[in-house]
Amino acid sequence: MTLLSPVFDAVRRVEPLRITGRVVAVRGLTVLVDDLPLPIGSLVRFGAGRTPRFDERGGVLHGEIVGFSREHSVVMLLGQTCGVTPGDAVVGDEVAQTAPVGWRMLGRCIDGLGRPLDELGPIHDRIHAPLSPEPIPAMRRCRIDRQLVTGVKALDLMTPVGRGQRLGIFAGPGVGKSTLLGTIARRTAADVSVIALIGERGREVKDFIDHSLGPEGLARSVVVVATGDESPLMRLRAAKLACTAAEFFRDQGRDVLLMMDSITRFAHAQRQIGLSAGEPPATKGYTPSVFAQLALLLERAGVIDVPSTAAAKRGSITGLYTILVEGDDMTEPISDAVRGILDGHVILSRKLVQKAHYPAVDVLDSVSRVADDVTTEDHAVARRQIIRMLAAYRDVEDLVQIGAYAKGSNADADIAIEFNRRLNDMLRQDRGDATPFERARGQMQQLAKETAEGVQRILKSKGAR
Ligand SMILES: Nc1ncnc2c1ncn2[C@@H]1O[C@H](COP(=O)(O)OP(=O)(O)OP(=O)(O)O)[C@@H](O)[C@H]1O
Ligand SMILES: [Mg+2]
Repeated sequence: MTLLSPVFDAVRRVEPLRITGRVVAVRGLTVLVDDLPLPIGSLVRFGAGRTPRFDERGGVLHGEIVGFSREHSVVMLLGQTCGVTPGDAVVGDEVAQTAPVGWRMLGRCIDGLGRPLDELGPIHDRIHAPLSPEPIPAMRRCRIDRQLVTGVKALDLMTPVGRGQRLGIFAGPGVGKSTLLGTIARRTAADVSVIALIGERGREVKDFIDHSLGPEGLARSVVVVATGDESPLMRLRAAKLACTAAEFFRDQGRDVLLMMDSITRFAHAQRQIGLSAGEPPATKGYTPSVFAQLALLLERAGVIDVPSTAAAKRGSITGLYTILVEGDDMTEPISDAVRGILDGHVILSRKLVQKAHYPAVDVLDSVSRVADDVTTEDHAVARRQIIRMLAAYRDVEDLVQIGAYAKGSNADADIAIEFNRRLNDMLRQDRGDATPFERARGQMQQLAKETAEGVQRILKSKGAR
């Protein structure tokens, strides 16, 4: 960054001409405006000169152009329609939308426009970065080959996350998605966390920041919030702003963990916008733009070489996105679309919650497509052995429950039953349990060795008979 950066920044934002239109009608969530020849995606503000219209937070009411017809521009509001009056002036504010980002965002909680939501005063020293930048060309992306330790044993040991990987966390309501994200934010080895809370209930936001994240988690995080009662545009913007913030830290050569809770609510917001702008509904009312926007959003994570004066350094954005699966239906259109785009998925299971097994990660159903690329050979071997044991136990679980399993039927199953408690204890983790990764990995390798030896012993004794 040079001394002149703020100047360039200001010049970039200057508008050669202020274009003003007039409100003629309100249709549901959208406002129709006359004489406003601005491109789609432009930011506009309501009211001019001494009669600005304000949003519910007391800021000037903003909107975005989401469509147009022969006579009107269709503007969607970033606040409530209440207060908008016929004939109100609508003034073009920003043609290419940008978001304010900078180091001082760390430890802060902001809304979709980058305004602070906490009571810590204004956030200084920010530059404006594009809200929806050009996608990174495929050739600039690097291989994912380093593990990102999350601090959650079930993930680090069994579904290892790579720096730059994108992973979906699929779960029904109340299974522990938000708690899991909070734990990761507190314990992760990433340099910075950016957490987008999209469409959450207002009460949960404070709870998440105070309890799940805690002061030590917040200190190296940026929290971007758009609650469910905010306009769909604001929810969408908050998700994009979180990506822009993550890109800012990545471009400084940092490993960033971007967490979004939830992608389902992002899709709902885009569906509302698409339908209001007149798009045809398709599967379950989701409009085509929902799937296009999802792909664009999820593609913003990854590893790239950062051009740097010293040496080529790498910056990465690792994306963790929660997806709400209603009634545990994994074939629902959003889950389906997201699973196709991501590099892995973690399934949280209600069955485990019922056994008070937290975090409720279903290790057998979860997949990390880069697992073997980011772990050591010993870790990979141990992981496969543990999976084999868990699968063997699952196969005979029902028989074991009713006491119908005959010991000696199967060597794997015999050992899996013997070690079942120890295997589950390894994957369980209390809130206060911050076992360092190397130690947890050592314990896992030991357990894998013991089970493999046990199986060998049985097979040998069977062979001897
Ligand atoms: N690691 C954990 N240890 C103990 N209890 C937990 C843990 N994770 C979740 N819970 C329990 O589960 C409840 C729901 O968790 P959480 O709010 O994280 O779920 P969620 O999936 O985000 O829910 P929603 O779908 O409503 O957003 C918590 O209030 C807590 O009681
Ligand atoms: Mg939640």
